[in-house]
Amino acid sequence: MQRKVDVEKALVRKYPEQVVLVTTKNKAGKDNVMAVGWVAIASGEPVMFVLGIDEQACTYQNIIETKEFVVSFPSEKMAKQTLFAGSVHGYNRDKIKESGLRIQQGSIVNAPILIDSVANFECKLVEITKPGDCPLIVGEVVCAWENTNKNLKRLYTVGKNHKLAGVRVKK
Ligand SMILES: Cc1cc2nc3c(=O)[nH]c(=O)nc-3n(C[C@H](O)[C@H](O)[C@H](O)COP(=O)(O)O)c2cc1C
Repeated sequence: MQRKVDVEKALVRKYPEQVVLVTTKNKAGKDNVMAVGWVAIASGEPVMFVLGIDEQACTYQNIIETKEFVVSFPSEKMAKQTLFAGSVHGYNRDKIKESGLRIQQGSIVNAPILIDSVANFECKLVEITKPGDCPLIVGEVVCAWENTNKNLKRLYTVGKNHKLAGVRVKK
């Protein structure tokens, strides 16, 4: 049975929601990382991601500037770093260094990939559109990486106020 409720109340039922870390490198060469929950596949061939990223985010400015970024799927072991990446702006901070996230150079884009993530996708900006109050950034995947450890669990937001946890996938 369904009952009509406020949108906000029904939205609490959406969890678990995936969370990704988006890395960028600005033109001056400074790396940054932010947490993004509003993420989905936007195209299958070629593969594209769509990310909802606020204009105030340093990441948004870096993407406008460089037209590239990396979508990284954190493992459940990265909850602390993901919360940190999602709670501080990177304009005057070095969030990658401060959080201890391990990085390596990608193949095609200049933004770093995260060594301990489950998978990384290097993306080139395709377009930015704004159908509502949040800019949607569409990026085409130009190179993909997976962790050699197949047993890593991905991190998800499992409840309100950025409650993060691993989600078990049945094999
Ligand atoms: C779990 C989680 C999910 C988040 N999802 C989004 C999101 O989808 N879009 C967004 O603009 N900000 C989101 N945020 C907030 C940003 O990560 C936060 O504003 C961050 O400080 C921006 O970093 P930057 O300014 O260095 O780019 C999220 C934060 C957390 C903790």
